[in-house]
Amino acid sequence: MTVRPILTAPDPRLQAVSTDVETVTDEIRTLVDDMADSMYAADGIGLAAIQIGVASRVLVIDLDQKEGKKNPIGYINPKIIWASEETAVFEEGCLSVPEIWDDVERPARIKCEYLDRDGKKQTLEADGLLATCLQHEMDHLNGVLFIDHLSRLKKSMAVRKLTKAKKLKETA
Ligand code: NI
Repeated sequence: MTVRPILTAPDPRLQAVSTDVETVTDEIRTLVDDMADSMYAADGIGLAAIQIGVASRVLVIDLDQKEGKKNPIGYINPKIIWASEETAVFEEGCLSVPEIWDDVERPARIKCEYLDRDGKKQTLEADGLLATCLQHEMDHLNGVLFIDHLSRLKKSMAVRKLTKAKKLKETA
């Protein structure tokens, strides 16, 4: 279990399209564990592998930790197989987009398929925060950040803020 550094935007690696995991091996399980540790260390509720620089279609999400218990779920090769027409708006943030939060509208309910850490195929129907979180993390696998869903003006303001923050950090 290792806490790995999380990439922050703007970073071309975050725009990479991740590739499917062929077989769920111990190496993948270690990746899931490292992702969970990295997520907890950064106070996040979800993380995609590309955020620690690994372009594999792997996510980890834990929405229960606020109650003091840790229950990270790994989603390998997740795919949306159905999405509701009804939408929901949540204020989103991202460990790779520090200090920025904004409303994003997405399908309110989704059905998805994924492999669990034992390589077993699972189907999940999600709504509420879990539906939003899964869609946000799955976007990362396609190189998409939540700020890409904002208006052009809001996105360019966000990118400017992120670029400035990164420069300050580099010269500090
Ligand atoms: Ni994110």
